[in-house]
Amino acid sequence: MEETIVVLDYGSQYCQLIARRIRECHVYSQVIPCNTTAAEIAAMAPKGIILSGGPASVYDAGSPQLDPAILELGIPVLGICYGMQLLVKYSGGAVSSAPEREYGRAQLHIQKAGELFDGMAPEQTVWMSHGDKVTMEPTSIETLAITQNCEFAACQLKGKKLYGIQFHPEVVHSPNGIQILRNFCLKICSCQGSWNMASFIEDSVKRIRETVGNERVILGLSGGVDSSVAAALIHKAIGRQLTCIFVNNGLLRKNEAERVQELFGRNFNMDLRYIDASDRFLVKLAGVDEPEAKRHIIGAEFIEVFADAARSVDGATFLAQGTTYPDVIESMPINGNPAAMIKSHHNVGGLPKDLKFKLLEPLNKLFKDEVREVGRALGLPDEVILRQPFPGPGLGVRHLGAVTKRTLDLLREADDIFVEEVKKAGLYYKLWQAFCVFLPVRTVGVMGDQRTYDYVVALRVVESQDGMTADWVNLPDDLLRRVSNRIVNEVRGLNRVVLDITSKPPSTIEWE
Ligand code: XMP
Repeated sequence: MEETIVVLDYGSQYCQLIARRIRECHVYSQVIPCNTTAAEIAAMAPKGIILSGGPASVYDAGSPQLDPAILELGIPVLGICYGMQLLVKYSGGAVSSAPEREYGRAQLHIQKAGELFDGMAPEQTVWMSHGDKVTMEPTSIETLAITQNCEFAACQLKGKKLYGIQFHPEVVHSPNGIQILRNFCLKICSCQGSWNMASFIEDSVKRIRETVGNERVILGLSGGVDSSVAAALIHKAIGRQLTCIFVNNGLLRKNEAERVQELFGRNFNMDLRYIDASDRFLVKLAGVDEPEAKRHIIGAEFIEVFADAARSVDGATFLAQGTTYPDVIESMPINGNPAAMIKSHHNVGGLPKDLKFKLLEPLNKLFKDEVREVGRALGLPDEVILRQPFPGPGLGVRHLGAVTKRTLDLLREADDIFVEEVKKAGLYYKLWQAFCVFLPVRTVGVMGDQRTYDYVVALRVVESQDGMTADWVNLPDDLLRRVSNRIVNEVRGLNRVVLDITSKPPSTIEWE
């Protein structure tokens, strides 16, 4: 089992970032709910425990607390911000609200380097963001560092491996913060620092073989990053005991089905079942123009087609999915309150009850960039690893109104031209998404001496970190001009190209 540092999540917006930074130190780190008990933590046998920051005040009624027995486990603890205040509170110290919220850069004066600040200059810039501060130290606590406004910017319980820091070492505004985390992991917790993607692949292959034994695994391959990397990893472990199912729902982009078959079927020699269900989907979608109704039909139809295909794979007992760590974290909100539903996303979930599979989710510990690293190490091309997100309902939500084969083909052609030009301009992999949207309205144009009365496409180009918010992107004029010329010249049936210049919010990225 790999050496682990657990991060107790007290609701800090930086919680995942702490885990990522620790992984950058080549130590595996996992975020767990803040109400995890000492006994549960002991069972996980981590090498160290981090108490994250959080928006509450430790003395607020109902604010998340700490099982004090955690401090008695003999496992090193680092409390960050709110986490430090908990540590002090449960060690007999006092925390009260600071006269002013301290927010922003601060100069840290290290008074005693010890193991936590080992190898660091005595003056450091750090990022503070807190409303409370430690005002009285228990006699058993020693101050390690101060700032102008904070007498207890870093402290240690005397003789124990229990540390607190008031600032945030995980953010880029604390430029040497990672050194503090590295010291905590390697010097204080005695981790080896040997966790990396190569060791992850090796361990996973072993684990997948042990778990699966002689049984068979099926996986719904979409061609996206997560399912592709999951397929490559599982295939490395068990070869043709894995069957991938790829469904063409008639809403794919130009040549997408061919590319997936070429890469996974021929290059990787996987047992790939290609199911062309386009007609089935298009029949069900005929005349349906309401976005949620379309999404619902596409989602439900997919489950049926996939379930039929799954039944036809003899002896399959495992269902593999490309679930990643953020998917896992997002599905366990600490304070409830999942964001109100704006659009119904669909993935392979809710399979019919008679299909009882054991789940295999080999990527569920990895962040997205780690998934990409694994994919690269397994030989997947950039085209797959750096692929822009493509929604499950595919072109169905990029073709407004009711879809038809002919108008979907118009969209496919226009989109292919747009993406090709954006790639040629070297911009494709720098953007979150760049795609065309089909508008079911016709406008008048003139071509040669002929009047045309044809459809419109919109160009949608956005930058984003996570798809939750997005900014529209101003592509260079000459690129836009080339794209527009090529689309109206090469795609008969389109005579107008428009540009979407709205951000999210208030718009969404996809148009439906
Ligand atoms: P919206 O349109 O909600 O999209 O701003 C945010 C991000 O999510 C993608 N998206 C989906 N992904 N299934 C998916 O797997 C879906 O149904 C779906 N709908 C939107 C979208 O492409 C964007 O990156």
